Amino acid sequence: MFDFRLSEQHLARAENTIPLGSQTFSKSRTQYPVGISPLYASKAKGSLIWDVDGNEYIDLVSSLASITLGYGDRGLAKVVTKQLKSAVNMSLPGKLEAEVAELIVELVPSAEMVRFGKNGSDATAAAIRLGRAYTGRDHILVCGYHGWQDWFIGSTTRNKGVPDTVSALTHKFEFNNIDSLRNLFEELGSRVAAVIMEPMNAVYPEPGFLESVKDIAHSNGALLIFDETITGFRFAAGGAQELFGVIPDVSTFGKGMANGFPISAVTGRREVMMEMEEIFFSGTFGGELLSLAAAKYVLDRYQKENIVEELTGNGMHLAEGTLALIDEVGLSDVLSLSGHPTWIFLNWKPVGGFSVDEIKTLFMQLVFERGLLVLGTHNVTLAHDSKITRKILRIYREVFSEIQASIVEGTLRNKLKVEPLTPLFKVR
Ligand SMILES: Cc1ncc(COP(=O)(O)O)c(C=O)c1O
Repeated sequence: MFDFRLSEQHLARAENTIPLGSQTFSKSRTQYPVGISPLYASKAKGSLIWDVDGNEYIDLVSSLASITLGYGDRGLAKVVTKQLKSAVNMSLPGKLEAEVAELIVELVPSAEMVRFGKNGSDATAAAIRLGRAYTGRDHILVCGYHGWQDWFIGSTTRNKGVPDTVSALTHKFEFNNIDSLRNLFEELGSRVAAVIMEPMNAVYPEPGFLESVKDIAHSNGALLIFDETITGFRFAAGGAQELFGVIPDVSTFGKGMANGFPISAVTGRREVMMEMEEIFFSGTFGGELLSLAAAKYVLDRYQKENIVEELTGNGMHLAEGTLALIDEVGLSDVLSLSGHPTWIFLNWKPVGGFSVDEIKTLFMQLVFERGLLVLGTHNVTLAHDSKITRKILRIYREVFSEIQASIVEGTLRNKLKVEPLTPLFKVR
């Protein structure tokens, strides 16, 4: 029986000094219902994570998809330790900045010049400022999640603290709905600086969709920015732009650049990127060397090895096994899968009078108590090999059967040990 006592004690302590008890919304008690969830981790290795109570889990969250090689990669530890003995951050830029920029230029089709940040949000905010400076326009069209900064979060329901004048400059269009983009251009026309989008998240782009987005943006004099914070270094070594063959003006990368180290990048056409010399995008830690050394190691492996093929294979194996189980157990009206094999989404539907939140909370309760950490997606890594996949599928078989039985018997609500999740803020 899993016990989360020490997690809960630590939450009480952390909340005295840390609002929400966590730096990251998606790692906080807003996503992990207290009473059925591990809340704090003590260590991680390969595909495994241990909570502060000592419980072991197979981890499919993979540090919000920032881990691609698996936790504790030995080669990575070696290069970062070597760099640590030399310097972490120096008074002048290190040579590593250009070395990593060159690797990105070699890997990413749209990349001619590169600047680094620490978070995906740094990179998207810089790309937006760049787009505004380059075009001399203010309005931004968005599709997807792009981070915590004012320019984006002001367009969501979590917009407290963002001035209305800022929110009014960002407008949402729908993925695979080209008319929703056309309508915005009809309304805003030459006031649009840039279209920024995740080239894919939960569903594949329909044939011609990304191409049409690019055409419409360009015919209106706006830039196309791909936010590849997750798709980059998961879908292909050159990102989703390589996979789909649609080359944006600017793209942003983050998670997955350095197997958990804090580094992000803005990259794009030379002519656009040179505008970086005129705007202000600068920070003390922009050229921090441990993350650059980590990125060099990771990207070098992407260039020399078939990392993406292996990741995709791991993801396919897990997705196929999961689909077969959904079918076998008779859950296909309730649970479906979508997305790229390396970033599969679990989509729940309400059924038999039970809401998605109730079903999802029971799912979390059942997987957590069997030693599997999974929320809404499979963020696979190289460490999710066939042995680990077999273990995940054994857990899924039990969990899916129990969910199905509780739906048929009408007992799902009674099985919940806590109040169901209430989604405070849906990022996508
Ligand atoms: C597509 C996308 N863009 C931007 C971000 C923001 O990145 P970060 O959380 O590193 O600031 C995220 C994070 O989830 C993301 O998924």
